[in-house]
Amino acid sequence: METLKFNYKGTCGIDSNELFKESVRLNRIFTVINEATKTAYATDFASVNVPMDRNYIENSEKLANKFKDVSLLVLVGIGGSNLGTMALQEALKLMPKIKILYADTVDTDYLANIIALMENELKAKKNVVINCVTKSGATTESVANFLVLLNILKKYRKNYRDYVVVTTDKHSKLYFVAKKEEFHILELPAKLGGRYSVFSYVGLFPLVMLGINIRKLVEGAKSMRKYCLIKDVMKNPAALSALIMFLQYRRGKNIINTFLFSNELVGVGKWYNQLMAESLGKERDFLSRLVNAGFTPIYSIGSTDLHSMAQLYFGGPNDKVTTFVSFKKIKNKLIVPKNNEYTHLAKVQGKSLGFIMNAILEGTKRAYANKHLPYMSVELPERSEYSLGQFLQLKMFEIIYLGYLMNVNPFDQPNVEEYKEEVRRLLK
Ligand code: PA5
Repeated sequence: METLKFNYKGTCGIDSNELFKESVRLNRIFTVINEATKTAYATDFASVNVPMDRNYIENSEKLANKFKDVSLLVLVGIGGSNLGTMALQEALKLMPKIKILYADTVDTDYLANIIALMENELKAKKNVVINCVTKSGATTESVANFLVLLNILKKYRKNYRDYVVVTTDKHSKLYFVAKKEEFHILELPAKLGGRYSVFSYVGLFPLVMLGINIRKLVEGAKSMRKYCLIKDVMKNPAALSALIMFLQYRRGKNIINTFLFSNELVGVGKWYNQLMAESLGKERDFLSRLVNAGFTPIYSIGSTDLHSMAQLYFGGPNDKVTTFVSFKKIKNKLIVPKNNEYTHLAKVQGKSLGFIMNAILEGTKRAYANKHLPYMSVELPERSEYSLGQFLQLKMFEIIYLGYLMNVNPFDQPNVEEYKEEVRRLLK
């Protein structure tokens, strides 16, 4: 199967000599991360070993097989607990095998709609699964939404327990409830962080329920993992992308624009925004020195945002590093019909939309180059589980490498915990 292509030469704004000279900065993290591949889930690098563990695939499939009579999956979870699933569902299956609804924030009207849709299914004698994904088992929004929705299920089904799946850490508060209630439990390793968990039960169970081929997804991730562990920066796309971003950061470019040339990659943009913002936005470095480090991640959709944001990108401050993401092969072919009477519109006639989109992408890259705006490109072979598995894996490694280049811990989120703690105090 084909591997995604990463391009940076001549466009990333850093010359090869500098890249080569600075690449030594990654030597230590290469050693640490390769050592961590031998220690399963014992270290903060637990996520790099997830794609190698067949249990996530096999147990997710086994459990999903019990739910053949289900027509709706309600996924309760927020942040790292649902963004990966949303991203992959949108990118791969806008019309999934069964319906899915996401309960993330505690928006009353939104949740009331979910309840109404759930009740419709239950009244029509169809079945609904609630999958509550919360690693800590204590996130206010997730716990509140879960308890509200569980009550609905209880109202309609005596055997409600059979239709509840809890994905959480062993010994979390919710774990104990789930044990007592005899819900299905999918247990997460303690050291696996939410935003790095899409290839574990967090993503795989809901995705297989939707009919997504999780074996191919993880195959893709595994194939990319191999490249991302190479100790030579020039051969390791995740390390190279991280080093380029880091060197540009030192030159004042602290906005990362992921320019996705596909409407269906909006979710991937949101997933990456969280991964980058929460992993690298840090008040203090590894030595507890005040650094207030971080990139501001944004994502753009091609070609839509060329008509809304591009004026800023081309004419505004040169403070961004862009990564263009596109597909090489497009499944559908749509041709703009020919009409000899519309001679003024001849330019596009007889051409496929894919060809036109490609011209827009290449034209945009040329305009970036003309203005000396730095960019990299990732070309995915096609919109498939395998390609998307590769891409998400590449980005997770990239962020880990960037964390170490910036001397900040990419695995914690101390300031998010502060707000969570304040909310808990208020609720008491
Ligand atoms: O990536 C992270 O760690 C966070 O975004 C969490 O996923 C998010 O806060 C939800 O936490 P939990 O899964 O504990 O409910």
